[in-house]
Amino acid sequence: MAIRNVVKEGDPVLNKVCRPVEKFDDKLKSLLDDMYETMTANDGVGLAGPQVGILRRLFVIDIGDGRLEFMNPRIIKTSGVQESSEGCLSCPGEFGITRRPMYVTVEAYNREGDRFTLNAEGLLAKAICHENDHLDGILFKEHVIRMEKN
Ligand code: NI
Repeated sequence: MAIRNVVKEGDPVLNKVCRPVEKFDDKLKSLLDDMYETMTANDGVGLAGPQVGILRRLFVIDIGDGRLEFMNPRIIKTSGVQESSEGCLSCPGEFGITRRPMYVTVEAYNREGDRFTLNAEGLLAKAICHENDHLDGILFKEHVIRMEKN
């Protein structure tokens, strides 16, 4: 595994729409391993492909309950609302209160290419929405109600 450079806000790679993952091969597995290591080394709870310069629809999340990986995710249902503090490894030192769904249902593929469905709530739901946005070139600031002072 290797720690990769995290792309910062201002780099146009963060504003691109990503393409689907097509090959569930060893290269994908080592990318996912690197992304997880990069995320944890930076004390993040999620990291999406474009944040390491990979314009593919994938992200990793660990909110403290273990490692989750999503390829070609689709959020198929949302409900409820939560307003809470949010940040992004691509926007270091910046935090804001966002409005997000409290519950999401997401369909995605795991690293073996098997489809799964996950129901998430709270912080995990927020993280899934945040990372999924990265795949469409959207940063969390578009959901911020008000920025927080450091
Ligand atoms: Ni982010």
